[in-house]
Order: sequence, then C-alpha cells, then structure tokens
Amino acid sequence: MIIKVCMGSACLMKGSPEVSKRLVELVTEHGLSRFTTIKGSHCMGPCSDGVVVDIDEKRFTNISVHNVDDFFKKEILQRE
Ligand code: FES
Repeated sequence: MIIKVCMGSACLMKGSPEVSKRLVELVTEHGLSRFTTIKGSHCMGPCSDGVVVDIDEKRFTNISVHNVDDFFKKEILQRE
C-alpha cells in the first residue's frame, strides 16, 4: 500500500506534517510497516480541500490531525 500525503503549501498550512507523522505512528503500531510506504507529494490539486491523502490511487480530502485516527481505522484497517 502506498500512502501519499500532500506537502504542498496549502496542505502544509493545514497540518500535513502532523498528519503524515501520525500515519507513520499508526502504521507502525498496527504492524503494517512492511507493507506500507508513506511519502510526501507536491501539490495534488484540490488545495482548498486539504489535507489531501491518496491511498494507492484513491483520493481523500479534508484529513486533519483531528480525524486522521478515524480515517486510518476506516480506510486502512478495515480494508485489510
Ligand atoms: S497544497 Fe495540497 S492539494 Fe495543493
């Protein structure tokens, strides 16, 4: 699984480094590190809907430090 977190300026302002850091923690806590790559991306397009995250080729918007745990549970744990 490849998780891309937008590191464009609008998403940076909305906390993409913290979102990315938390995703790394969650992936590690759940033993998914071997199967998962988390990387930053240049602007992915919909800046006003950041933070933008792609899981494989599926796009998610409005991810924040406040909802990233729920996002992880719903979109990553439940698909395993
Ligand atoms: S800065 Fe993230 S979509 Fe443009």
